[in-house]
Amino acid sequence: MPLDVDRFPVRQPLPRERRDALSREVLVLKKQLNAVILAHNYQVPEIQDISDYVGDSLGLSQQAAATKADVIVFCGVHFMAETAKILNPDKIVVLPDKDAGCSLEQSCPADKLAEFQKTNPNFYTVTYINCSAEVKALSDVICTSGNAVKIVNASPKDRDLLFVPDENLGAWVMEQTGRPMTLWRGNCYAHVEFRRESLLRLKATYPDAKVVVHPESLREVRDLADSVCSTERMISFCKSNPANQFIIVTESGIIHRLQKECPEKEFICGPVFDAMRAPTDPCRCSECKYMKMNTLEKVRDCMKRLAPRVELSPEIIRKARLPIERMLEISKS
Ligand code: 13P
Ligand code: SF4
Repeated sequence: MPLDVDRFPVRQPLPRERRDALSREVLVLKKQLNAVILAHNYQVPEIQDISDYVGDSLGLSQQAAATKADVIVFCGVHFMAETAKILNPDKIVVLPDKDAGCSLEQSCPADKLAEFQKTNPNFYTVTYINCSAEVKALSDVICTSGNAVKIVNASPKDRDLLFVPDENLGAWVMEQTGRPMTLWRGNCYAHVEFRRESLLRLKATYPDAKVVVHPESLREVRDLADSVCSTERMISFCKSNPANQFIIVTESGIIHRLQKECPEKEFICGPVFDAMRAPTDPCRCSECKYMKMNTLEKVRDCMKRLAPRVELSPEIIRKARLPIERMLEISKS
């Protein structure tokens, strides 16, 4: 299989002095703007280190819902910044790169979903947060990987559940809840590259390591896990588990936080499908090309220019807010 160069962009680490200078600029701008910087666990280390909060999609939406800041700088992908805007229509929400998308979001266009919903008036649409604001507006309730089981368990028993857009997360939730669901055929292009054979080989090299897998992965991979969980739960699992070695099957950006919070433990990146890599490439880590579009320089620039901004119509905000608020309410209990 030819190597997809776009899939594996070469990123050079920022030289120390440049990184320090940019970080200082960002912190000054943060004060001037009364801004809060929210970052997903997959962001590059230099962004995580200047952020007010680093976490998973659930934690980030809870932070966005609670913030008193005037400006939200959202370091993640576009749908996450949109969620922050939906929860804060009067605030300015900026993101470092407006093209930071998500393959799950792309797999579910709103018009296709609306068409499919018409095939069964009894559908109750449970939508993974990795989707556009327009798709959220068509949903009954939103979920994240951190609360999907709880949300499905709380969904009306007399309705037919339609789960969009991640078929792998949906399949895992069905296993956990025993609740049948119609699954939209979308997936995360980065997580489906993890395969059973490569993971078995890595497990043989580290026989004592616990295996922690994100539920966007294929079932053949989830079945090898000691824990299947959201990125935030990965942190708490590794902190509280007595093991010293962990194989982390998700995007490699999370390793930075794990090493910071558990310096005495060893974290090994889950291996992506071997054929995706050049035979000479020693690295087997997975990276989301969208999450990695953000750089510290772009964070500084978006704060300086207050652009790119997330802008949504009042109608979409009104409709998309309801299922997100429903999710936040169920998550509290
Ligand atoms: P988490 O909510 O578990 O951080 O997942 C977000 C995501 O995009 C995973 O690919
Ligand atoms: Fe989307 Fe996958 Fe990237 Fe997460 S890792 S943002 S699901 S493409």
